[in-house]
Amino acid sequence: MASSRKVTTLYMHHPTWSALPKEDQELLKLAQRAARNAYAKYSKFKVGAALRMESGEIIPGSNQENAAFPAGICAERAALHAAMSVLPRGEVETLAIVVPQVKGRDPVTPCGICRQVLLEQEQRQGTPIRLLMGNVRGPVIETYSAESLLPLSFDSSFLRK
Ligand code: THU
Repeated sequence: MASSRKVTTLYMHHPTWSALPKEDQELLKLAQRAARNAYAKYSKFKVGAALRMESGEIIPGSNQENAAFPAGICAERAALHAAMSVLPRGEVETLAIVVPQVKGRDPVTPCGICRQVLLEQEQRQGTPIRLLMGNVRGPVIETYSAESLLPLSFDSSFLRK
């Protein structure tokens, strides 16, 4: 017999950046700054990201577009792949995302592909990645993992025979 099941997600909504610890505010600032380096020639939608590793390193990223649209990459993945390229055994602790031009509504949250890639990273490193999604003068949405944004997801366990 069919049964209905419910998935719930817990997240924090902070009205302003000042409600967060200083190091998180710093990370959001770096994400905001990283958006300046976006190459958003087609969408005109500049996204900035900055991630903090468990070891303290900070790595920024921004979206980089292409005339062949699917060849572009989001800011979140640009930062994550840059981090893993230099620190392949590193652990991402927090990822901040800011779209400076988005105002007056809730902050931008990662696209589906980025959620999938962040989920893979959580499984690779064995710990959750905190996400901070902020607008320039607030609010900030905080999640305790990427997995919480991707219920009923596909992962490597399905590939096992
Ligand atoms: N984009 C990101 O970089 N991150 C997101 O979370 C949402 C979308 C980029 C992809 C594309 O370059 C532009 O924003 C418009 O979709």
